[in-house]
Amino acid sequence: MLEQIEKINSLDELQALYTATFGKNGTMTARLRDMKNLDADARAALNAENATLRDAFKTRQAALENAALMAQLSAESVDVTLDPMPAARGTLHPMTRSLAEISTILHSFGYTRMTGPEIEDDWHNFTALNTPDYHPARDMQDTFFLENGNIMRTQTSAIQIRAMEAHGAPIKIFGIGPTYRREMDATHSPMFGQIEGLHVDKNVTMRDLIGDVRAFLMRFFEIDDVQLRIRPSYFPFTEPSIEIDMKWHGDKWLEIMGAGMVHPNVLRHCGIDPDVYQGYAFGFGWDRLAMLKYGLDDIRKFYDGDVRWLKNNGN
Ligand code: DAH
Repeated sequence: MLEQIEKINSLDELQALYTATFGKNGTMTARLRDMKNLDADARAALNAENATLRDAFKTRQAALENAALMAQLSAESVDVTLDPMPAARGTLHPMTRSLAEISTILHSFGYTRMTGPEIEDDWHNFTALNTPDYHPARDMQDTFFLENGNIMRTQTSAIQIRAMEAHGAPIKIFGIGPTYRREMDATHSPMFGQIEGLHVDKNVTMRDLIGDVRAFLMRFFEIDDVQLRIRPSYFPFTEPSIEIDMKWHGDKWLEIMGAGMVHPNVLRHCGIDPDVYQGYAFGFGWDRLAMLKYGLDDIRKFYDGDVRWLKNNGN
């Protein structure tokens, strides 16, 4: 029997022989049941045989289990020379992408980028922009007020003031960044982006403004021509003020920006003599341009931080 156990090569076979030996109807079970008929020596011999056999089964079982484990391990071995799993690659946010595109174009037209704080004071966001505190145009922009009297800037036009205060005239700058208003629906987010342009010099006219806007839109949207519609409008900081619409896909007009000739009061507030200098200014919706270019329809998604959306819209 010991030899037989040694030769068994499968756990199933070993189990079968074990049952045949030690099971309810097993050979050893029967012999042990009859032990009371044996003399003391025979009993001792039977007990010894019983113990030896059980040991032999246990040893063989351990050996077979170990062999099975080894076989499994070698079958499942890792090939360290295989290529790694592809790592998740980041994508550029549409705002980041368009920021780079817009900046490249405006730089090439001779505009220098200027920045300003997102937490603004009343002077730069309103008063210097010819919008004193009694001015009804303040109601056009639902402002977030901070407890210390400052506000979240409602328009990048505040950057114009900071630029002129710091550098005077002549000046040709653009600003781009987040702006804040209390509004929220599919086309309005409480945080949105604006692009501001300002060009002040001795002989700057509205023709220069329209020329740059045309060239900008053609470059940004990668189109050979663009049809513009100029409508009279009102902004406190420009006179005259215009709104510029753009023909989109040959059929509808899209309101794309506000602009105008810088109001003499604004120049005066920044220490620039309006009898010597004049200029134009313009303001675009930054996210709006990105939405049009990349075909996106819900501005709120821009600021949700949903990586799945970003994966589909980042490139
Ligand atoms: N700040 C204006 C707005 O938020 C946009 C704008 C209009 C900017 C005319 C300008 C401008 O510089 O000249 O609606």
